[in-house]
Amino acid sequence: MTEKEVNIQKEYIEKIREQIKNKNLKYNILTMGCQLNENDSEKLCGMLEEMGYEREENVKNADICLFNTCCVRENAEDKLFGKLGELKKLKEEKGIIIAIGGCMMQEKHITDKIKESYTFVDIIFGTHTLHRFPQDLYLSMQEKRKIEDVIDIDGEIYEGLPIKRDSSIKASVTIMNGCNNFCTYCIVPYVRGRERSRNPKDILEEVKKLASEGYKEVTLLGQNVNSYLRVEREKDIPFEKYEGIDSFAKLLRAVNKIDGIERIRFVSPHPKDFTDDVIDAIADCEKVCKLIHLPLQSGNTKVLKEMNRRYTKEQYLELVEKMKNKIPNLTLSTDIIVGFPGETDEEFEDTLDVVRKVKFEQVYMFIYSRRVGTPADRMENQIAEEDKHRRFNKLKELVESQIEENNKKYVGTTQKVLVEGESKNNSDMLTGRTDSNKVVIFEGTKDLVNKIVDLKIVSEHMWYLKGEVEK
Ligand code: 5AD
Ligand code: SF4
Repeated sequence: MTEKEVNIQKEYIEKIREQIKNKNLKYNILTMGCQLNENDSEKLCGMLEEMGYEREENVKNADICLFNTCCVRENAEDKLFGKLGELKKLKEEKGIIIAIGGCMMQEKHITDKIKESYTFVDIIFGTHTLHRFPQDLYLSMQEKRKIEDVIDIDGEIYEGLPIKRDSSIKASVTIMNGCNNFCTYCIVPYVRGRERSRNPKDILEEVKKLASEGYKEVTLLGQNVNSYLRVEREKDIPFEKYEGIDSFAKLLRAVNKIDGIERIRFVSPHPKDFTDDVIDAIADCEKVCKLIHLPLQSGNTKVLKEMNRRYTKEQYLELVEKMKNKIPNLTLSTDIIVGFPGETDEEFEDTLDVVRKVKFEQVYMFIYSRRVGTPADRMENQIAEEDKHRRFNKLKELVESQIEENNKKYVGTTQKVLVEGESKNNSDMLTGRTDSNKVVIFEGTKDLVNKIVDLKIVSEHMWYLKGEVEK
């Protein structure tokens, strides 16, 4: 069924290709949000480039402007509506085609607002209809009408769509879609639907292809990545087993065996699904990076319960202890939300306490943002903005002091760095990342790009380290 659908879309790609031949048309794309969204954008770029459109970074020179939206926090909405304001002029002046897709388009109050106040938008598509973009674009061009292609049911998994990847060194591979956890603050389950996993065979084939193309690092993606195939297992939903793979741990072990791939990362796991088999696989697989992202959200057991996270402060700390004992050289990063409804100053202290104890390599900090339709939005005890900001600043101060402290530990050590290319700020220097995802800048020759090199760390700066090639 999905194969037939993909073929239909390929026909639309061909039709557009015919139509725009020799016209030298260009597209501009803006992506907000997480790595999953970036991976979706790579698929959109793949489709557009197959049609014959060329990528253009300056929207003023583009014929199509595409927006892949996120809705996890409020500022993303401000960004979209600000940008749409700017695009109105381009629409009036040159008739640029404007398409908006992604998570935010699954929210009715947003699409209503667009249809009411931004009537110049040509195409609206959601997360479950991304694969139908060629058809939507064709119909919009052909029939000169507004297209709204958003469905509420869980989308299928479509294999074999074209893809244009951002990097030739690191690649993302989405292994599952959707989320069944319903954390009370989070909009994701409503906009990305229920968990569904890709077949292990399709994933391994994609990774093998990446390896043959010279990619060195893959990041396995999912909103709840370590519950890969869990729903299918628990509900006895038949799925194509391949090399005996029926769990995330087994998938990690299988990816680890693929020649050419040298580093494996994954985001985002949920602490409650961090079973022993996953910990053992990380410890055993030499290619799996030992930086693990383990979202904490809050360090207080009562707040965690209100968030529906299904672990306590103690359970989180025990999990960290267990992982540290089993995985040599483990480093951790995390996500934290401050100012969840009802959170008191005292409860927030528990979050600081966990941060002090775990000493994360990196902390992604967020101010709680009310999301329409989520249980937390309906809670009455919302926190005043100034309290949220005060707590955020306190957390930021602690995190930054820890990062400074932690950076010092790198100086004098030798790190394996995957070299990604020239440094953005200084083209005489190369840049790469350690296993723990720290940026390292160093002097070196271009032939080192896409290789893992040993670098001696000579100095530390807040957001990067400086290294030297080991003689
Ligand atoms: N407000 C603030 N942060 C949020 N996140 C998810 N939903 C919200 C929200 N409503 C954060 C969580 C999640 C990360 C991707 O975004 O920390 O792990
Ligand atoms: Fe944003 Fe979540 Fe959608 Fe990613 S899945 S783009 S974080 S709303």
